[in-house]
Order: sequence, then structure tokens, then C-alpha cells
Amino acid sequence: MNTIKKVSLFIPLVLLALVSCNTENKDKKTIVKYAKELHSFAQPNISAINHLSLDVNVDFNTEVISGKATYTIENNNASEIVLDTKFLDIEKVEADGKDTTFKLGKFDEQLGQSLTIDIENDTKTVSVYYKTTDKTEALQWLNPQQTADKTHPFLFTQGQAILTRTWIPIQDSPQIRITYDATVKVPNELMAVMSAENPKTKSDNGVYTFKMEQPISPYLMALAVGNIEYKAVSERTGVYAEKSMIDKAHYEFSDMEKMVAAAENLYGDYDWDQFDVIVLPPSFPFGGMENPRLTFATPTVIAGDKSLTSLIAHELAHSWSGNLVTNATWDDFWLNEGFTVYFEIRIMEALYGKDRANMIALISRQDLDEEIESFKEEPHRTKLKLDLKGKNPDDGMNSIAYDKGYLFLRTLEETVGREKFDAFLKSYFKTHAFSTVTTEKFIDYLNTNLLEPNQVTFNTEEWIYQPGIPSNQAKISSDKFANAEKTLHQFLESDTIDVSITKDWTTLEWVHFVRNFPETMTAKDMARLDEAFDLSNATNSHIAMVWFEQAINLDYHGNAVDQNIEDFLIRVGRRWYVNTLFKAFERNGKTEEALAIYKKSRDNYHSVTVNTIDELLGISN
Ligand code: BES
Ligand code: ZN
Repeated sequence: MNTIKKVSLFIPLVLLALVSCNTENKDKKTIVKYAKELHSFAQPNISAINHLSLDVNVDFNTEVISGKATYTIENNNASEIVLDTKFLDIEKVEADGKDTTFKLGKFDEQLGQSLTIDIENDTKTVSVYYKTTDKTEALQWLNPQQTADKTHPFLFTQGQAILTRTWIPIQDSPQIRITYDATVKVPNELMAVMSAENPKTKSDNGVYTFKMEQPISPYLMALAVGNIEYKAVSERTGVYAEKSMIDKAHYEFSDMEKMVAAAENLYGDYDWDQFDVIVLPPSFPFGGMENPRLTFATPTVIAGDKSLTSLIAHELAHSWSGNLVTNATWDDFWLNEGFTVYFEIRIMEALYGKDRANMIALISRQDLDEEIESFKEEPHRTKLKLDLKGKNPDDGMNSIAYDKGYLFLRTLEETVGREKFDAFLKSYFKTHAFSTVTTEKFIDYLNTNLLEPNQVTFNTEEWIYQPGIPSNQAKISSDKFANAEKTLHQFLESDTIDVSITKDWTTLEWVHFVRNFPETMTAKDMARLDEAFDLSNATNSHIAMVWFEQAINLDYHGNAVDQNIEDFLIRVGRRWYVNTLFKAFERNGKTEEALAIYKKSRDNYHSVTVNTIDELLGISN
């Protein structure tokens, strides 16, 4: 039966009432609660999941997660329910505890396979018995050598954007919201944590139970298993890490409570009770991932001096923009990330002042210029609202959503004034808490609640639907960066360098200094800098990364920099770093070198990093 008809015939009154208040009733047949979704096979308007009970075993020997996922469903008089799966072995399916029939759809490279389960019109639960396979894209199984302590194996998941379906059969669309509970069995000596209420100590038998009582989108389902421990920072914040990292992590993130307090002060209560961070092994493909209650983080942010903690502010900010108010589809990804960068920078300003906030903003501004330049042949990719039809959402996940999104919101703030803008954002989060928002719904809310009441005209549509940067963009400047540029020029013009000038520089000034070498800069100049500052051995991962990039650009080979680049690329799997360096090799005609290193490093990377670098280096698999 055709979907639309089925919806209009059987949709219950409650649902109708729910949707008709915010959906324009132009065509009766199109009244639906869930917007059209390009990246999920699920048909939630017919039957949607709303609670998951997960009962799984994590086997490190076979590298398989197996068990049962039981869903409570919102059944709109349906005869089937459709879940997303990818690379899963489905063994058996039950409806209300009785075996039922199911079929797997045609395999799609990006989306995987639909799992269509036959149900009765009054079925309340379905259970899927399944196993993950070695093709799983969410999971990375690490051997002890790939961890900090090197004594035990480790496992972590990465769900965003559409990878949760590779470890749990699920309706994998951000518009779906579920609460969950889980029972996870792991080897005795390991501890399991999830994006849920978590244990603080190891259990005796390797069994852990979890509860997530606030409804979350499936991309936020997360699990990590390793020989980890917990150390509290405050009553509601703390860190998980391996033994050799726990004190370092605890020191680095000691401002966590202050960050949560500052965030609440800006945009309303923290709705998730607990905010913890787990420091993962270095192959974790992102800087951070905002899994609710438990941010997953790369160890490369542990610089020893708290200089890279804006990443924690960023993932915390997602507790509002992303986890509480969620992009409805991946075309609206900028609603998650643009708002989060804006919020991150506001938290940093509240804690550390305008100087630091503006330096972060200016780095974002430069990243935006670089990204726009990189898309000069495909300007449509610089639009905030994406069109990911037929594409993997990962393809849209570049700096545009982050940095153009940020610039748009900062420009709005400067246009209407901070006070009004803050009040607007606070009510935006409150009004849409635990729901999803499309770009269009946001524009509507903006017009009705900020622009029209204040009689402000603003080129919102240009910012969101046109390529490039509108001319009314906010101007961002930093005296500290201007000073770093001056120092760079003095250094290039004279033979000596006054090291004392840089004595109080923060990481951001160093990053700016290194990123802004002029055209005339040579490998010899880099050698002189290296002699003064030993940048080839920088222990700060961000400074090291930009320095390595310049070494590749300028053919600089002194001070063991080549070996350090190779070691870095083998150890660290953070996609942004790895991609930046491999792109530099490519751009400078050094594909051979890139391939030689990649041969040694690829096995250490998570699938999302592998996919990006395979494509960059033209490797087909
Ligand atoms: N949610 C993202 C990570 C992500 C994006 C995963 C898209 C999968 C698909 C996370 O919040 C993020 O933006 N991380 C950044 C850090 C940040 C400070 C900009 C990262 O990993 O670099
Ligand atoms: Zn983010």
C-alpha cells in the first residue's frame, strides 16, 4: 500500500492534532509528523520506535557485539515497521515476544539495508536478535598497543552521522527520539560506559546496566569499553580515562564545572544531569563527539596547559544545540554545528575573556576562507543549507556548517545587539527542547521572534541559501594576532629573533603565527624558527599539526620533522589533523610520500578517517 494513503487513512487523531498545529495544511495527504528523510529507510509516520532495551555481549576475541535490541513502538495501525541496518547479521525477529517474519532490502552502499518487520496493528514491541560483522563502520576494536596503557584492548563506537545502524538495528534518523536502557556484558577486567547514566567503578562480573531517560536521536547512541577509571571534577562533571591518562585528563579539564555553569547562565538549564568526558585512544576520528552525558574526546586535546579546552566547551554546547534541539535532517547540519561554534565561543568568552574568544573566532574566520577557496570550483558547497540527496552526509560535513554558521550568528548578534540575541537563543532552545528543527522552521522562528518584533531587516535567506559570504558579515579582529603577525615580519626582516617576545604566547597565537607564513617564507626560515623554538617537536598537537603542514608546503626537512610527521600520522587518527596533512602532501605533489606513510598508518584509523583518506589519495576498496 502506498505510504501517503496509509498515513492519511490510519493516522490517529492525537498524532493529527500534534502535527497540524505546526505543519501547514496545504495538502491533506502530506500531513506528517516526520519530515522527509534522505538517509534512512524508516517509515516513522507509520510506526516509530520510542524506547530501546539493548541486551548485548561484547566479545573482544571475535570482535563481535551480539544480542538483542527490543523496541517499544508507536504503532499507527501498521502492518510493518522498518528499521535501518548496515553490515549486521539478523538472526531472528519477534513481535511482542513471538517469532515474526522480516525481510532485508537491497543493499545500498551508503544507507545499508532496510529491515522490514511484519507486525500486527496492535503490536507494542519488536525484538531483533543480531550480530555485528567485521565490516561494521561504527566500531573500532583496538589492541592493547593502540591504547595509552598498552595493557588491555579497547572498543569505542561512533554513531554520527549514519553509523549507529552498523552496530544496532535502528530507525537511524535524527528526527527519531528514543529513551533507552541497556545491559552490556564485557570481559571482567574492562569497564563499559555509554551515552547514559554511567558506572563510576568496575563491576565484579563485567556486566553493566545503563539508563538514558531523556529521549535522544539514534546518532547519539554510544558505547566505550576499556580498562578505564573515573575521576570527578565536580558533583556533576568528571573524566574517564585509562590509568596513565586519568590525572592529566583531570587537570586539563578542571574547568568543566565552570563551563557548565557559564553555559547554563547563557542559555538555560543543563538538561542531562551529568556532564563527563572520556579520553579515548588517539585513533578516535574526531576531536570530540557530543554523546549525551558523556562526551567522547581525542587525547590530542590534552596539551598539559588547558590550551585546547575550547573543544570541551564545544561538545558541552551541543547539549543544547544538537542534543536538545536537533537538526531534523543532515541537510540542516549547520543548525547543529554553527550554533555550537557560536555557543562554544560564548562559553570561552565567559570563562577566559574576549581576547581568547576573538582569537578562536578569527581562526574560524580563516578556516572559512580556506574552505571557500577549496570549493571555488563548486560554490554550491558553500551554502549553509545542504542538498545531500544521493550523497553520504559525511560529504557535507566540512567547515562551512561550523564557520559560516558561526559568522552568520555572530553577524545576527551584532545586528540586533547581544541582549536581544541571547534572549532569543534562550527561548529558541526552550521552545524546541527535545525536538528537531529544519532550517525553514528556524527561519520562521527567527522572523517571528527576533527580526519582526524588533523591526530588523536581515538577509537571512542570502546567508542560508546562497554560496559565499554576504557583505554584511561581522568584522572580527584580534590585537594579539596582529602582534603575532608583526613578530613574524620582524623575524623575517632581521637575522635575530627576540625569543622573549613570544614568552607569553598562547597556543592560539602560535597557531596563527605558523599558519600565516608569507609567500616569501622558505625552508631556511623554518630552520631558523626551529632552532629558536623547536617547533618540530611541539608537544601541543594543534601547533605541531600546523607546523607539519608548513614543513610539507615549504619542503622543510630539518630537526627530524619528517620522522615526527610520520609518527604523528601513525599514532593519531583524528580526521581533521590527518586529512590536513595528507592534503598538504597531495597539494605539493608528494603523493608518493603520502602513500608510503598511509600504508603504515591506515590500519590504525577508524573507518570514517579511512574513508576520507582513501578518497583523497584515490584508493578504491
Ligand atoms: N559532532 C561533531 C563531530 C562529527 C561531525 C562527527 C560530523 C560526525 C559527523 C563534533 O561536535 C565536532 O564538531 N568535533 C570537532 C571539534 C570542534 C571543536 C570543532 C572535531 O572533531 O574536530
Ligand atoms: Zn560539533
